[in-house]
Parts: sequence; C-alpha cells; structure tokens
Amino acid sequence: MENYDVKDLSLAEGGRRRIEWAEREMPVLRLIRERFKRERPLQGVRISGCLHVTTETANLMQTLAEGGAEVVLTASNPLSTQDDVAASLVMHNEISVHAIKGEDNVTYYKHINAAVDHQPHITMDDGADLVSILHTAKKNLIHHLIGGTEETTTGVIRLRAMAEKGVLRYPIIAVNDAYTKYLFDNRYGTGQSTIDGIMRATSRLLAGSVFVVCGYGWCAKGIAMRADGMGARVIVTEVNPLRALEAIMDGFEVMPIKDASKIGDIFVSATGDIDVISKECFALMKDGAIVSNSGHFNVEISIDNLKKMSKKRRIIRDFVEEFTLKNKKRIYLLGEGRLINLAAAEGHPSAVMDMSFANQALCAEYMVKNFKRLEKKVYSVPEEIDKKISMLKLKAMGIKIDTLTKDQKKYLESWEMGT
Ligand SMILES: NC(=O)c1ccc[n+]([C@@H]2O[C@H](COP(=O)([O-])OP(=O)(O)OC[C@H]3O[C@@H](n4cnc5c(N)ncnc54)[C@H](O)[C@@H]3O)[C@@H](O)[C@H]2O)c1
Repeated sequence: MENYDVKDLSLAEGGRRRIEWAEREMPVLRLIRERFKRERPLQGVRISGCLHVTTETANLMQTLAEGGAEVVLTASNPLSTQDDVAASLVMHNEISVHAIKGEDNVTYYKHINAAVDHQPHITMDDGADLVSILHTAKKNLIHHLIGGTEETTTGVIRLRAMAEKGVLRYPIIAVNDAYTKYLFDNRYGTGQSTIDGIMRATSRLLAGSVFVVCGYGWCAKGIAMRADGMGARVIVTEVNPLRALEAIMDGFEVMPIKDASKIGDIFVSATGDIDVISKECFALMKDGAIVSNSGHFNVEISIDNLKKMSKKRRIIRDFVEEFTLKNKKRIYLLGEGRLINLAAAEGHPSAVMDMSFANQALCAEYMVKNFKRLEKKVYSVPEEIDKKISMLKLKAMGIKIDTLTKDQKKYLESWEMGT
C-alpha cells in the first residue's frame, strides 16, 4: 500500500497490541463487526473518516473494512493521533491513514485533502472538517456523496447552521445526539479522560485545589463530577441559567468567570464557544494558575492574548507551557489549548467509545440502505439503533432488566385510568 502518511511504520506492532486491548472493551462493536463480516453491507462503499486516530477508532475502521468499505482515515485534531495506531492500520489492515501527532496546520489540511481525494460516498466527521472542505475547496467531488455522520457537538452545531441556511448538500446523521453517545461518551468519557489528561500533564494533586469548569453541558458535567470525586473544590461558570441551576443543585459553586479567575488553581473549558477564558481572566488569575481545554477547537482559551501579555515562554514539561506575564505572574497552558484528554492522555476509555462507534457503524449501514429517501438535512440517529445499542451493551455487561407486563403496557399507553 502506498497511499498513506504516518510517522513511523516500525511502531505498528505496539499499535496492534493496544488496538487489541481496546477491542476487549468494545463488545457491541465486536458483534457488529462479526455480522458485517458475514453480510458485507458496505461492499464497495468509499468512506473517509476524519476522527481522532486512537485505538478505538482503529476498531471502528476495521469494522467498516470488514463490512466491505474502502476506508481512508485522517485525524480530526493535529495533536490527537496515536502514531503506533496509525502505523498498525497501514501495516496490518491496509487502511490508508494520513495522520501524524503534532503535525502543523499545513500538514493537517494536506491530510484532510487526502481523505477528500478518496472521493468518498460517506464522510465520517468529528468536527465537520470534511464536510466543510467538500462544500468549499472541493465542491467538484460532492456529487459522489450519499451521506455522512458527525461525531461531536461542535460539528453538529456547524452542520445544523449549514442546513438552516440551505447550503448543506447531502444528508448527515448526528451521531453525537444519540442517547447512547452523549450520555456516556460526552459525560463519563470526557469526564474521566479530561481529568486523566490534566493529571498526566501536570502530576498535580487535585484534592483541595480550586477547580474551575467552564460550561455545564454534557462534557463539563462529567468533568465537574470527576474532579469533585478527586476531592477538588469545583466551581462552575455558565451562560445558560438552566444549566447553572443544575450545577448549583448538583452541589457546585456557580459564579461569573471573572470571579472564578481570581481564585482558581486549575481551569478547564468545555463549552464549544470562543474566548471563554479571555485576556481579562489571565489578568485576574493567581500566579501558577493552570488553564486547559476539553472543547472541540482550540478557541476556548484566548491563546493569542496570552502570548501578547507574556514576556517569556518556555515548555516546562510535556504538554505544559509556562507563560510569564509582564507583571511576573506565571500561567501554565496545557496541550496548546487543544483537547487535553486526547493531547496528553489517550481520549475516552474504550467502553464508552464502544457505543459511540457502534452508532457510527450502524449509521453508515443505515445511510447505505436509506440514502435515496433522505433529504439534505441533519437527521437524528434512528431510535431503533439507539435502543439496540443500549440493549446490546447491557447484555454484554451481563445486566438484566425488567420488562413491562401486559397490564403495565396498557396502563402506560392509556389516559382513561386514574386512581
Ligand atoms: N474532549 C472530548 O473528547 C470531547 C468529547 C465530546 C465533545 N467535545 C466537545 O466539547 C464541547 C462541549 O460539548 P457538550 O456536548 O458538553 O456541549 P453542550 O452543548 O452540552 O454544552 C455546552 C455548554 O457550554 C455552555 N457555554 C457556552 N458558552 C459559554 C461560556 N462563554 N461560558 C460558560 N459556559 C458556556 C452552554 O451554555 C452549554 O451549557 C464541544 O465543543 C464538543 O464538540 C469534546
């Protein structure tokens, strides 16, 4: 195979072992893979994936390939690629991967272009970068598309904006919005792996620290919950009154970011918004404050302003950059302000990605079967897919639940019966 660009093929064997380790925790995807191997529902379908190149994504790519798809994979973030995994997919599965951890912006877009030049029938995005290029610089390839899927909240927001303006040219399924995705991946996955990333990068004790979480959406709820579990004093900042109320009643302090800036030891933003931790915040922060991001793009922290306010910068340890401000105060930025759980740790645990990627695989199959009747809109994951994944996951965990009796079903479907 010649069409690939990875760091070093000699890393492949280690990658293969780690991919196998992840597979052990992905029973639902494994079942789908076995069926795909028998039925080949994606035979001849060209799929371009723009996803974090992790051990879990490798299992998804293998599943799609076993289903008959011709797969090309590129990274959805310059810092999230696991180079051994990229090498293994090329060496052992003959999957064309274009991704190198730490690539610059030019290489990042060169790799995205390689995935687009595959002339996909289906795009599988995490942040809508493939869709975006196919609607701008590579419009000439859009006629090949039958549909796409989108993995993350920020991507879904971009795509809904495109659909609303009437510029979306092919149907997309919002995988992020499946219950079996965001309730587990965004909450428990981002929760655990963000804390993991911060700890691997800093080796700091969380117990007793003032830990500021910006946002109280699904990702931030998970982060706040886990930081609380580690003994941190958690403060939440929000712009949505409902979510602020939820945070208060979940037992957290809530205050404006400017107030939190004065007392926080560690900050994490997970909002999908820009300039959440701004110039004004840096000016108010204590000496030694640590700032990080777990939202999709590296726009949540005003890094350019931090650079302008600083007289000195140095890398003090892997994924930790020290900025010395003109007033001598030091602020530490983790992982260049990119998703800290993927930059400094390994992303979400496989057990949650099992459900997210089961959604991806089943939605690709659904798209192949149904594309002729779908419009150029953003669709929810079909309810039967969501339900099936939760049932399979429970089964794999060996957990049984009750079923409704005939009388209960009748009662719940009626309106006549009262006390
Ligand atoms: N790190 C990861 O691996 C990972 C995983 C899934 C999603 N994401 C990304 O994380 C981000 C959040 O996703 P989500 O599913 O939690 O979204 P969400 O829509 O559930 O929550 C976002 C929250 O941020 C709040 N917010 C917006 N602007 C704010 C501001 N200026 N200050 C404080 N709060 C603000 C909103 O009111 C909302 O409650 C997105 O960019 C998403 O793509 C990252």
